[in-house]
Amino acid sequence: MKRTLSIFAATFIVGGLLAQSIDLPAPQKTGGMPLMEALAKRSTARAFDAKELSPQQLSSLLWAAFGINRPDGKRTVPSARNYQETDIYVLLKAGVYVYAAKSNKLDLVVAEDIRALGGTQAFVKDAPVTLVFVADLSKMGDGSIEDKKNTANIDVGYISQNVYLFCASEGLVTGARMSVDRAALGPRLKLRPDQMIILAQSAGYPKP
Ligand SMILES: Cc1cc2nc3c(=O)[nH]c(=O)nc-3n(C[C@H](O)[C@H](O)[C@H](O)COP(=O)(O)O)c2cc1C
Repeated sequence: MKRTLSIFAATFIVGGLLAQSIDLPAPQKTGGMPLMEALAKRSTARAFDAKELSPQQLSSLLWAAFGINRPDGKRTVPSARNYQETDIYVLLKAGVYVYAAKSNKLDLVVAEDIRALGGTQAFVKDAPVTLVFVADLSKMGDGSIEDKKNTANIDVGYISQNVYLFCASEGLVTGARMSVDRAALGPRLKLRPDQMIILAQSAGYPKP
C-alpha cells in the first residue's frame, strides 16, 4: 500500500520538531508511458482531488522536473549556459520545502501549509502539491536583468513541460500558472531580492 505524503511527513516529526530535511526515495527512472502517448494526454487541469502523492511519486516528479541525469551533474532539462538557476519550492500540507537534487532531499523552508498562496485561483488550495519555480538571478553571470529574466523564463518552460509529461504518464493532472501573487508568496518563501518567482504548477489526482 502506498504511503501518503502526510504519513510520510509525519514520520519525520520527532518530539514535535519537524525535520529540517526529508530524504526522498530514489526516483523511478525507468518505465512510464510511451512518450507519444504522454504527449497525446498532456493538458492543463484546474481541479484537483485532495488525495496526496506518495513519496515515490513526488521524488520521481521532481527528478523528471529538474533532477540530475548524468554523472557531471547536468539535469533532465537544458538551461542556458548550464546556469541551473532554478530552485523548485514544493508547497505541501506539511510545509514548504526546496528540492535538493544532488542529495535527493527536501529542505524545509517553513513548516506551514501555505498552498493557497500558490496561485490566485480558487482550486489552488485543493492541490496536494504545488511547485513554485524560482530563478536565482545571482547564478546567472553578468548580463542585464532583462536578459536574465528572459533566460530564466525560457529555462522554466522546459521544467514545466517535463512536469506535464510526467503527470500525463503517471495518470496525474497538472497545470502551470502565471497567476501568482508574487508580493504575497515571495516573503513566505523567504526569497532574497535576487530570487524571482517565474511560474507555479500544481500536481495531483484528478477530481472525480
Ligand atoms: C506560462 C503559462 C502560464 C499559464 N498561466 C495560467 C494561469 O495563471 N492560470 C491558468 O488557469 N492556466 C494557466 N496556464 C495554462 C494555459 O491557460 C493552458 O496551457 C492553455 O489554456 C492551453 O490549455 P492546455 O494546456 O490544456 O493545452 C498557463 C500556461 C502557461 C504555459
